[in-house]
Formats: sequence, structure tokens, C-alpha cells
Amino acid sequence: MQTEVIAVDPQQPQADIIERAASLLRAGELVVFPTETVYGLGGDALREEAARRIFAAKGRPLTDPLIVHIAQMEELETVAASVPERAQRLAAAFWPGPLTLILPRGKQVPTLVTAGLETVAVRMPSHPVARALIRAAGRPIAAPSANRFKHVSPTTAQHALADLGGRVPLILDGGPTPVGVESTVVDVAAPVPRILRPGGTSLEALREVLPEIEPPLPPRTTAFDKPEREEGEAQRSPGQMLVHYSPTVPLLLFEGEDEAQRAAIVAETLRRLERGERVGILAASEDVEALRPCAERGALVQAPASLEEPARIAAALFATLRALEEAGVNVILCRSFRPVGLGLAVQDRLRRAAGGRIIQVDPSADAAEGVR
Ligand code: TXA
Ligand code: MG
Repeated sequence: MQTEVIAVDPQQPQADIIERAASLLRAGELVVFPTETVYGLGGDALREEAARRIFAAKGRPLTDPLIVHIAQMEELETVAASVPERAQRLAAAFWPGPLTLILPRGKQVPTLVTAGLETVAVRMPSHPVARALIRAAGRPIAAPSANRFKHVSPTTAQHALADLGGRVPLILDGGPTPVGVESTVVDVAAPVPRILRPGGTSLEALREVLPEIEPPLPPRTTAFDKPEREEGEAQRSPGQMLVHYSPTVPLLLFEGEDEAQRAAIVAETLRRLERGERVGILAASEDVEALRPCAERGALVQAPASLEEPARIAAALFATLRALEEAGVNVILCRSFRPVGLGLAVQDRLRRAAGGRIIQVDPSADAAEGVR
């Protein structure tokens, strides 16, 4: 299949381009489109055959449910069987925007979309292209992130093309996505509302509307933890997979006091450069001075923003991981970011990308010690 990439104005999408994409969706075909979080791989949410195509194009197991995207509140009645009061309050406060609500499944939504679950994930994106496309298609659109299963989510059309080229007919290129991490998924159908996946809407902001909301459970960090579900059983939350957002090269995540992290990253980098490895470093602008010896010896240092700007770190995170990958590094050494604001989502994605390779640095010990 030929994949066509069409540039579209991210603020005022051209009507003819939107109509072309919408007609593909109405025909049960797939379209990659920008949202404010990441690019989505969209298909008709009420048509089983479209959902089947989504799973096939992504290489995603049928046990991982999709998010249904809507453009106006009236569509909520089609996709959800009921909307609890607290869900209405969250929707009123955060939609359109990077928040996904888990609700009882409406009968029209095929169980293939929800991976057999009696709940459905729903979100109303704010990106003008996404909104125009869903409206023009005239139906809710199921869309996971437009990456191959387990790869880093795409924040540009080029990322989506690299993963899905030849597997979808059309990619709408609306430039880089502003938020950069996926939506926050909140289970409002549970007795106590809980974040299942931290994302583009912060816990602090959610608590201003719903103070009782629970933070996400910590992801499993070792391969030896007891699995929380049986093989083949639908995932209750994306937090249950150990390796989910993974770059194709190993990522080592350093956690601990700032100075100790820097010392440990420098020591580990110099050791690896000595062995002839190509080393990529994901850091904050505050680290650049300390990492100068690494950069001078050929390590690729990426410092997209300051520790004080978690939203800017989030916006750059996936593109930076992909850039290091494409530069051909053998390993990515990564500092950790404080779980404040969008920093919680950044921490979550990095821990998953590390897949258990987390190095706790102890400021009292020789920082270079605990690292192998
Ligand atoms: O920002 C986003 O949410 C992006 C854009 C494209 O909207 N979409 C996205 O979709 O990240 P996806 O499929 O990559 O991640 C959705 C996650 C899945 O990991 C899935 O486990 C969870 O939401 N999910 C979907 N339906 C669910 C349900 N009924 N109960 C619990 N979790 C659900
Ligand atoms: Mg995804």
C-alpha cells in the first residue's frame, strides 16, 4: 500500500483535505492524524472491520483496548452507556483536551474496540485537525497512538511514517504535537476514581476538580513481579505492561540526588566511550555543564529543557528518544525528572522505556560504584 502524506494547517485545517481524510474513514479505512498529545491511527469506532485494521497496522494484540475519540458531547451518549456525575465534571473541566475517561461501554461500540471489556475509553481531543476530522467523518473515531506496538509514540508525521509507512493510505501532517505525551487515562467507572496512565492532564489539575482521585499505581519494575492478569485477558490499564514505551536501544534510567545522578552518568558514559560504544544522553539544561567532558569525547547530549519546565520536557521527550535512536547510539543514559505536573507522565514513560534498567544513585557512596 502507498502511504500518502499531506500537509495540513494545524490551526485552520483546509476543508478539502479534511474531507478527503473523512471519506476514507467513512469507507472503513485508516487515517493517521495529529492530536494535541501524539499522532493517532484512526478508524471508524463503530465498525469492527476498521478496528481490525487498526490492530493489524500497529501489530497490536487484540487484548489491548482502543480509545474512542469524539468531537462533541452529544456523541458521548452513543459510545457510553452512562456517564457518572464525576465523569461529567471532569469532561466539563478538561474537554476538549488530553484526558481519557473510562466509562461503561455503549452497545454500538464493538467489543473488539474495547478488547472484550464492558468499559470504553473516551476522549475529546482539542487539536483543530482532530476535531475537524471527527466532525467531518460524522462518527466517533477509534485511535491508538500511531506507532508500531511497543515503540515510542509519534509526535510528528515523520515518526508515524517511519512506523506505519506502507500500512496506512493517508497521514495528515499537522507538524509536531504540542503536549508530546499521551492523554491521562482516568477510571471513573471504578468505586474510587484512579489514574490508570498519567499523561497530558496533570494529577494536580484533576484534583482541583475531583480531590479524591487516586494517583497511578507504580508500574512493575522487575520482570519477576507477579503478573496482574492472565495471559490473553484484556488489560485493565496500560500500566500493567513492563516494557511499553521502548526505544529500540537500551535505556538506563538514573534516579537519586541530582549531583549524584550527574556523577554517575559521567562515569558510565566515559567507561562506555572507552569501550568504543556510541552513547546518547537525555538530560536537563542544568546538567549540560557537568556533561561537557562526555560531549567533548563524542557522547550525544540532548538537553531539551530545564528541570523546572516539565511540560517542555514532556513535549520533547519522544522526539528526543527517536532522535538518539536514529543517530545510531548503542545505549541511552537518562536522568530522571521530578514527578510534578507533566513530570509524572515523563517519569512513567521513562521507567517503562528503561524496562527495569533503573539505577539508584546514592549520594553518600562513590557515585561511579553502583553502576555496571
Ligand atoms: O493521547 C492519547 O491518548 C493518544 C491519542 C492518539 O489520542 N492515544 C493513545 O492510545 O495513547 P493508545 O491506544 O496508545 O493507549 C490507550 C490506552 C491503552 O494502553 C489501553 O490499555 C487504555 O488506554 N485503555 C483503553 N480502553 C480501556 C479500558 N476500557 N479500560 C482501561 N484502559 C483502557
Ligand atoms: Mg500507545
